[in-house]
Amino acid sequence: MIKSISYSTKEILENILELYARERGIDCDLTYCRGGMYKFLDIEPKFKFDKYPRVPGIISADSRQLPIADNSFKTVVFDPPFLISSNNNGIMAKKYGCFKTYIEMIEYIELSLKEIKRILKTYGILIFKCQDTIDGRVNYFTHVDVINVARAIGFKNIDIFIYVSKNRLKIKSIIKQRHARKFHSYFIVFRKVSIKHYRKKHTGSAGLAVSRSVSTGCEELCNSLSVSTGSAETAVNQSEMKAIKKLLLEEK
Ligand SMILES: C[S@@+](CC[C@H](N)C(=O)[O-])C[C@H]1O[C@@H](n2cnc3c(N)ncnc32)[C@H](O)[C@@H]1O
Repeated sequence: MIKSISYSTKEILENILELYARERGIDCDLTYCRGGMYKFLDIEPKFKFDKYPRVPGIISADSRQLPIADNSFKTVVFDPPFLISSNNNGIMAKKYGCFKTYIEMIEYIELSLKEIKRILKTYGILIFKCQDTIDGRVNYFTHVDVINVARAIGFKNIDIFIYVSKNRLKIKSIIKQRHARKFHSYFIVFRKVSIKHYRKKHTGSAGLAVSRSVSTGCEELCNSLSVSTGSAETAVNQSEMKAIKKLLLEEK
């Protein structure tokens, strides 16, 4: 039986492929790094990208502006940096990259998701690895915001897997611990669905409930970001928001 939780990224990826992409494998990984994710797997992505290629065979590309034609792929993996830090010389920041603020990270994720939607075929699968994070003593549940932004853009979240790590890097100088140390990360499985299709599929009261929850998700995200930063405008594309609100009003 396939479970939603595991100590092994290999097991999670195999299970995701078994459930959602058995025959097609992985077309492309946009943040390949050194390919740690595929270390113990029998498969490799057909195309490998990263903004800062570290090993041969990786195409240099920014996930916000990909040199890939529309509707090219059926399965895409995206594992962006998750660290928030003003010091980009730390071990993790050097290894994986980092953002100065949480809002900067969400903006990057939003732009990347739009690009991924563009390069994915309709009904294509996105495997999005992410981790919750802390910025300025505030605990951010990144996976919730990723799901809300993705839904607003035109993805449907169809599954979620939790990877639990047995070890974490030791932090030398904690004066007073404020939040639980995170030993887990997420593999969120999204399917690309056009809003038109979304609407057609979910008619009647179920449709209203779906679009309501999409709209509420966006609004909540915008509100929470504007409370903390005062710049909700940039977090979620306003025309996307307008389209969803219009859809909601029309269906009322
Ligand atoms: C968390 S790591 C990925 C680790 C990888 N999945 C693995 O298993 O080894 C994040 C990667 O995103 C890359 N990256 C950072 N900014 C990027 C951008 N704008 N576009 C594409 N890749 C980016 C980094 O170079 C880094 O390799």
